[in-house]
Amino acid sequence: MPVPVILDCDPGHDDAFNILLAAAHPAVDLLAVTTVAGNQTVEKTTLNARRVCAAAGIRGVPIAAGRDRPLHGPPLVAENIHGGSGLDGPGFGDGEPDVPQDPRDARTLIRDTLLAHPAPVTLVPTGPLTNIATFLLAHPELIPRIERIVLMGGSTGRGNTTPAAEFNILCDPEAADIVFSSGLPITMFGLNATHQARATADVVSRIAALGTPLSRLCVELLTYFAGTYREVFGFDAPPLHDPLTVAHLIDPSLISLVRAAVSVELTGTYTRGATVVDLLGVTGRPANAEVGMEVDVAGFWELIVEAVRVLGERSGD
Ligand code: BDR
Ligand code: CA
Repeated sequence: MPVPVILDCDPGHDDAFNILLAAAHPAVDLLAVTTVAGNQTVEKTTLNARRVCAAAGIRGVPIAAGRDRPLHGPPLVAENIHGGSGLDGPGFGDGEPDVPQDPRDARTLIRDTLLAHPAPVTLVPTGPLTNIATFLLAHPELIPRIERIVLMGGSTGRGNTTPAAEFNILCDPEAADIVFSSGLPITMFGLNATHQARATADVVSRIAALGTPLSRLCVELLTYFAGTYREVFGFDAPPLHDPLTVAHLIDPSLISLVRAAVSVELTGTYTRGATVVDLLGVTGRPANAEVGMEVDVAGFWELIVEAVRVLGERSGD
């Protein structure tokens, strides 16, 4: 049986590929997409989710907008990485995508989706954890309907937005703390894992060789993303963070996991938003998460290229 999934995201170049992977692979049943303020405002991330679905022919998956700011403080965006639109690179044009926005808000869509599905559903957040924390606080009675949370965020090591903190967690540390303290099974893919999954020139040319309108759009996304990662971080190829989550659901052997206690730093003078991962087991705190470690990089890119191929051919029919 395919894994029933709700994606909660802030597209975002790497979020976009995660939507494609979840929609394309038969091991995943993509029930809903919810959006959150993160890489850009929630208006922009919602429009971007609709644009990606329209371009890939993903129809019938409801897309609802969630929170426009973190639980505390002002929102943070990643314009230096994802551009002014949140998905710079391709020319999407000014027209409205022909995939609608669901009139419900994200919290209501998550609630309705959990209630409607006969089995517990996996939540896959790849942006700030604001929507998920808000949902857990609002609907404790529905927590048994959540199978597990598989998220991109944090790191076992250092950050990318401050020396200590990764972007998704730094955007809303209080929300992340609520999620990591929830008692739900959590699998975390942080920068220590995602930085292994770089879109090299070889990967980009494999996608280009597919020769569909969707593959061209994917190349434009990766080319823009490569430019900002080169300028901002000096990387020779950009890491495609978010799709490690769905790749893990499709093939759990692709990324090794260790169990550990993960705490979110809420107050540190220089370290707010850091995930403190007790890999050595020195704190005595019980493990509350599985943490992604070593990535089968070739296997990961096989899944991504295949997803672009399948959707590109399907939407060209
Ligand atoms: C995370 O931050 C965002 O910019 C990406 O979409 C990813 O979810 C990486 O730190
Ligand atoms: Ca993201």
